[in-house]
Amino acid sequence: MKQYILAIESSCDDTSAAVLDEDFVCLSNVTASQNVHKQYGGVVPELASRAHQQNIVPVVDVALKNANITRNELSAIAFTRGPGLLGSLLVGVSFAKSLALSLNIPIIDVNHLEAHVLAHFVKDDISQSVPDFPYLCLLVSGGNTQIIQVNSFNDMQVLGKTIDDAAGETIDKAAKILDLGYPGGPIIDRLAKEGKPTLEFAKAHIPDYDYSFSGLKTSILYTLRDKLKENPSYIKDNMNDIAASVQKAVVDSLLDKYEKALKKTKINTIAIAGGVSANSLLRERFVALGKKYNCKVFIPKFTYTTDNAAMVASAGMFKLKNNDFATLDLPAYAR
Ligand code: KG4
Repeated sequence: MKQYILAIESSCDDTSAAVLDEDFVCLSNVTASQNVHKQYGGVVPELASRAHQQNIVPVVDVALKNANITRNELSAIAFTRGPGLLGSLLVGVSFAKSLALSLNIPIIDVNHLEAHVLAHFVKDDISQSVPDFPYLCLLVSGGNTQIIQVNSFNDMQVLGKTIDDAAGETIDKAAKILDLGYPGGPIIDRLAKEGKPTLEFAKAHIPDYDYSFSGLKTSILYTLRDKLKENPSYIKDNMNDIAASVQKAVVDSLLDKYEKALKKTKINTIAIAGGVSANSLLRERFVALGKKYNCKVFIPKFTYTTDNAAMVASAGMFKLKNNDFATLDLPAYAR
């Protein structure tokens, strides 16, 4: 009998459920986003967990319907155990446990960051090519910036990471200063297309493959403050150029370190993952980097860049094939 896995992702503000078959082909991937946070300029944890509670049953229902399978055909249920917002995670973890218990099938815990990295194995059709191990993954999300050497699905080595803020956080912060709304990444990306990177910001000097973005955040704030002193409508008059400058500064920082790690490891398969990997400049420059070093390049489909359950199902399917199951007393973890 063919194996199917249902996965649930509820680590932040997206309630998502997906079904993958044993060949990693995605049969469904359904996400309910929570608009309730927009008015607060960021995710409000208590509101997020309440919205997950409302969304989880219909989202799982639609995921099973779209996949055209019944609950009884499932072989296992995977869920994001952490890291994330504890209240949000608890909804997904408890739901996965109860459903698995009622169906008498195993549960599989998945680390959210590993799921982002393994999103590259989700196939929309069986012939789609996937990375060979090892590959060098740049993981860039709202809360994380890491360079990871992926030796296998369960052997990942973090070569570098941010010592303070993440790349996504930096872009979101810049968008907040510019009064652009949340999340700022997609808006900055859109505006940057119409602008030129005319502003230079301070660069961090951190050893090895680690990142630091807090200096860049401060530099953006101070540069704009000084410009506003000279011209009170500077931001309004130069919005596209500011967006292009912020985007370039973040992408430059990301790729400087990544290229250094690539040279050192000499790995010839490269990938990007996480919400910020939706950024058009980063995608373009990453492809160019791959060409320069003659690498096979993997860029995720937009649907698999931000939080989604298909990537959780992918990590879960590896574990299912390895008979690596969790027990019902396993708690969620925030960090
Ligand atoms: O991976 P993700 O959905 O959430 C975390 O698990 O953190 O990433 C969200 C981040 C946000 O900071 C958002 O602004 C950023 O990804 N983002 C982008 C773009 N789309 C989303 N950043 C730059 N350009 C984009 N097109």
